[in-house]
Amino acid sequence: MRASFLAICSALLLALTSCSHKQVHSETQADIVERAPASTKPRVVRGSILHFVQDPFVVGDEKSYEYFEDGALVIEGGKIVRAGAWGQVALPEGADTEDYRGQLIVPGFIDTHIHMPQTEMIAAYGEQLLDWLNKYTFPTESQFKDKEYSRKIAKFFLSQLLRNGTTTALVFGTVHKESVEAFFEEAEKLNLRMVAGKVLMDNPDTTPDFLRDTADSAYNDSKDLIQKWHGKGRLLYAVTPRFAITSTRDQLKAAGRLKKEFPTTYVHTHVSENLDEVAFTKSLFPEAKGYLDVYDRNGLLGSRSVFAHGVHLTEPEYKRLSETNSAISHCPTSNLFLGSGLFNLKSAKNPARPVKVGMGTDVGAGTSFSMLQTMNEAYKIQQLQKEKLSAFKAFYLSTMGSAKALSLEDKVGNFAPGKEADFVVLNYSATKLQGLRTSRAKDLHDKLFAMMTLGDDRNVVATFAAGEKVFSATRQ
Ligand code: GUN
Ligand code: ZN
Repeated sequence: MRASFLAICSALLLALTSCSHKQVHSETQADIVERAPASTKPRVVRGSILHFVQDPFVVGDEKSYEYFEDGALVIEGGKIVRAGAWGQVALPEGADTEDYRGQLIVPGFIDTHIHMPQTEMIAAYGEQLLDWLNKYTFPTESQFKDKEYSRKIAKFFLSQLLRNGTTTALVFGTVHKESVEAFFEEAEKLNLRMVAGKVLMDNPDTTPDFLRDTADSAYNDSKDLIQKWHGKGRLLYAVTPRFAITSTRDQLKAAGRLKKEFPTTYVHTHVSENLDEVAFTKSLFPEAKGYLDVYDRNGLLGSRSVFAHGVHLTEPEYKRLSETNSAISHCPTSNLFLGSGLFNLKSAKNPARPVKVGMGTDVGAGTSFSMLQTMNEAYKIQQLQKEKLSAFKAFYLSTMGSAKALSLEDKVGNFAPGKEADFVVLNYSATKLQGLRTSRAKDLHDKLFAMMTLGDDRNVVATFAAGEKVFSATRQ
């Protein structure tokens, strides 16, 4: 594997050096509203308000949400004061009011797994995970040694998140510190709640030399980044070993040491995405009980640990994730695109040993930044297993479910008083077809289901972070 792997990578790297530092399309941030300083003036937003107060997988759909057909969301100092029915909630004097009647206001979408540096290689043809990484991903990521290149892509990436209504994401950088510095600098300007980390990858047998750190440099670079960024404004740091295959035992140990020294940081990695990956991992770590145990024996499980995919988990692995309060990021468009398999949501949410689940796009293996499109594919993945994913459950997973997966439910995810005012305004009728379909919808569920099946970034009217508008569709 190593010889062919390296051959492919060096050939691609050569090709890349001649065309790297390409121009990023110049409309990069044109649609992002320059953020005004946080206003102290109260703000009232009027529209149809939906948010989740309990887990529909536990209490059932009907008890899980609050909905105000004509609602008011009251915001002060970037936080939610209250949400309720228009005419019934007290409105502060002198508030700026924005009227979105007929449109849907939900908490900002939360993407629990995405790769900023893979934005430009979305839709790479023809491979499953390990070959896709070697052929497309590693050469693309090599460009992020350059801070200014990282900044261009970080800006583009953030503009894509916001135009899709995503206000929080758990983000992979590359092995280069610069990629994460650039990302945090740009996210800070927009006052977004974001979690990100530098990738750790040091195994010389599986990692090309142009994209490799060491156990020591990974530890030192991560520590520097943690000290600079973790808890700065709304930013948080994730210790990010790429996956077991690309890290040595020493490096996984260093990752565990970082997590122990900085216990409020996150752990973000991949697990059991693809069957060849699972088999390869077991061959590299024969001492472990299984794939997840490679992380577990290094102290990498816990309530701020997020494992992307988990398509091929075993029963003891679900149990261990549940015991440790670790989370899975379900990435439907990616699992279908790379042919990885069908995520067993029912098993993950088994009340006997529930595992926290959030939604992830996994761009660039995922094929859309849109959480609506991600819900659409999640529904189909359940259909293929003869299960139904209701629109309520899908919207829950993309908002409050993902907030819980990130242990951020005290800060974002719904409109409880005191939460940070991150929300998105969605148009039900962004296309003529959606207009026709919505006009025939029989109830709220039907409207939401049509939106998640047919919708995408065209449905996003405006995105707000900490009470300020950071994207507006009308500005294009
Ligand atoms: N496993 C290790 N690295 C990656 C990655 O970049 N994308 C996906 N989907 N899986 C991975
Ligand atoms: Zn991924």
